[in-house]
Amino acid sequence: MKKNLFVFIFLIAPFLLIAQQKSNETPTYKNKKASIQDRIDDLIKRMTIEEKAGQLNQLNGGTFTGPAANDTGQKAKMQMVRDGKVGSFLNVIGATETRAVQKIAIQESRLGIPILFAFDIIHGYKTIFPIPLAEACSWDIPQIEKNSSVAAKEAAAAGLHWTFAPMCDISNDPRWGRVMEGAGEDPFYGSVVAAARVKGLQGNLNDDAHILSTVKHYAAYGAVEAGREYNEVDISRVALWNKYLPPYKAAVDAGAATVMNSFNVFEGVPASGNKYLVTDVLLNKWKFKGFVVSDWSSFSEMINHGYAANGKDAAYKAISAGSMMDMESKVVIENLPQLVKEGKINVQQVDDAVKRILFYKFKLGLFDEPYKFSDEKREAATELSKENKAEARKAAAGSIVLLKNDNQVLPINSSAKKIALIGHYAKSKEDMFDFWIGYWTGKPAVDDAVTIYDGLKNKYGNAVEYSEGYNADATTSDALINTAVQSASTADVVLVNIGISGKMAGEDRALAYPEIPEAQIQLLKALQKTGKPIVALVSSGRPLVLTKIQPLVSSIVQCWILGTETGNAVADVLSGDYNPSAKTVMSFPYAIGQIPVYYNHFNTSRPLPTDKDGNWFSRYRDIPNAPLYPFGFGLSYTTYSYSNMQISNPIMERTDKLTVTVTVTNTGKIDGEEIAQLYIRDITASIIRPVKELKGFRKIKLKAGESKEISFVLSGKDLSFYDGTGQMHLEPGAFKVFVGGDSEHVLGKDFVVQ
Ligand code: NOJ
Repeated sequence: MKKNLFVFIFLIAPFLLIAQQKSNETPTYKNKKASIQDRIDDLIKRMTIEEKAGQLNQLNGGTFTGPAANDTGQKAKMQMVRDGKVGSFLNVIGATETRAVQKIAIQESRLGIPILFAFDIIHGYKTIFPIPLAEACSWDIPQIEKNSSVAAKEAAAAGLHWTFAPMCDISNDPRWGRVMEGAGEDPFYGSVVAAARVKGLQGNLNDDAHILSTVKHYAAYGAVEAGREYNEVDISRVALWNKYLPPYKAAVDAGAATVMNSFNVFEGVPASGNKYLVTDVLLNKWKFKGFVVSDWSSFSEMINHGYAANGKDAAYKAISAGSMMDMESKVVIENLPQLVKEGKINVQQVDDAVKRILFYKFKLGLFDEPYKFSDEKREAATELSKENKAEARKAAAGSIVLLKNDNQVLPINSSAKKIALIGHYAKSKEDMFDFWIGYWTGKPAVDDAVTIYDGLKNKYGNAVEYSEGYNADATTSDALINTAVQSASTADVVLVNIGISGKMAGEDRALAYPEIPEAQIQLLKALQKTGKPIVALVSSGRPLVLTKIQPLVSSIVQCWILGTETGNAVADVLSGDYNPSAKTVMSFPYAIGQIPVYYNHFNTSRPLPTDKDGNWFSRYRDIPNAPLYPFGFGLSYTTYSYSNMQISNPIMERTDKLTVTVTVTNTGKIDGEEIAQLYIRDITASIIRPVKELKGFRKIKLKAGESKEISFVLSGKDLSFYDGTGQMHLEPGAFKVFVGGDSEHVLGKDFVVQ
């Protein structure tokens, strides 16, 4: 007995004591003073494989408080949170809601790992900014960054940690509804914009005003065949590297925390299960340190593609390709533990993915302050604040592209006594917005929106007379047309808001006819007979075919989808309070049959000479080859000229730099801002190169009559291209460099690289 007591006191008790002390000690992962790396290493050791799979599981959330708390589906999701089986929710928004859910994760799950709350914030959270495509037309990079930072600030106060933006897909196809979410057709410009958007959203990720960004849709989703959503992609590696990958790469280099798989295939393999795209390029070549998230159920959709046999196979193929978090298809949470137990997936690979996700949870400070983003007071003060709206108004005015302005009909003469405003959309908040303002949450911020009607009333008061012109469904009637004509016949200027409803922009909004509806053309024809100056205000989330309306109107103002401050911004431009400066970043097709049409095409074996007609050229018989409005085009209320173009060294070594200078003059009577663009052409190369490639731009302010000399510096990198393996090459030989106000009207010089 004595011996037993001895053994207990001297041999067992000390161990029990140490064990007890250890269990009372704060675990390293909860110790604020430990490094993030140590905290992650400690936590991962404590996690079961089921909990690791949980971190790779992102579910669609919705509402969990109020009556929704009793919903069986919602209760089941909460139980999964308690069981450590949810790493992230999308679509749980608002400080109160996110706090309630976070509390369960922190207080009721075994390890108390915080949840990441994600939401699609495509062009603003509550203060809605112009759609990304429109915003990109401003070529105003600081403003673009600012817009993203305002969006992040509003979202961060509402409990959100992460958004699925920026979309970096290059697209040449206005049939695709999602061109609205990108930055147009150019890889160089798309890269600059992508980086600015990432910086705006993320800042340094060390405060409560920035959130994680997502580079999407990786890769080449913009090349979907015929512009049809969720369709397949079939492109070469040369096209992948030179045209599609640069903006994703730029966003990754700018520090984007996450990358989203696309829905399409590349080389016959769905992007989510594509080892070449995810592991070889993104993780190994680009050394991406963040984590990869699937698109909505894109893991399980590999079954539909015909690439995975079932959910388990889909999880296996996605994870072994290097993809990580499963958005909503649940194949990872359901199958990963088993796949690891069977030795099919290596636990180190799972750990690597989980560690990347945990890193951002630590980086955002969520382990120490899980509710820091869910702040009702800050949320109320930030959302739709005066300052945010002022930014949105500036951004919107800067996004409007003036496509035509005969006889200087615009700006509206200050002596105008009557302005006829015609068009259903001009007064319809419902048609002002696309899908990406959170319609599906039931809380979209449409009430605060300023319609074109409101904006013109704010500026011109009773001078504005409104008539509907066409119906909500874009049909019209004699009665509607007659009323509009009557109103127009006594007006000084006639503004007609045409186009297509905002509801037709975004995901699942592919259109076979991206053009002006016939009823609106009929309306314009009737209005033209009044002999009054007619201004078309085109609302659309994509470039529409405007060829038929061009001869019917004096001016065309491309208003896109401009967000909360639409009406005020349109009024600022129409009145001349803001002199338009935007230039389109997507070509406007001459006809639907011309799609895809883009400035950086190849020369072909039979290029049509610009100065002559003829047979046996690469051409259409019924329309011109050129688009109606080319990339980089946009007018102002003043005019600009380019002169005295010089290059520093017409024969340059590969390691040299080439300086290009040109004088830009404001030749009109109004101050303005011009976007000067620089293009190059590599005349002969081992892989054919486009007829023009943008390699630089400047947005410059010029007073009426003022001239400025501007310069661009090109390095060997700007003159290089990728081969199909992702290697860059600068090949000696003849080049051209061009500078001008759009992609068609340029000055040019030849030079040689040796
Ligand atoms: C599907 C879309 O393709 C993607 O862009 C979006 O972020 C997710 N759904 C989440 O809503």
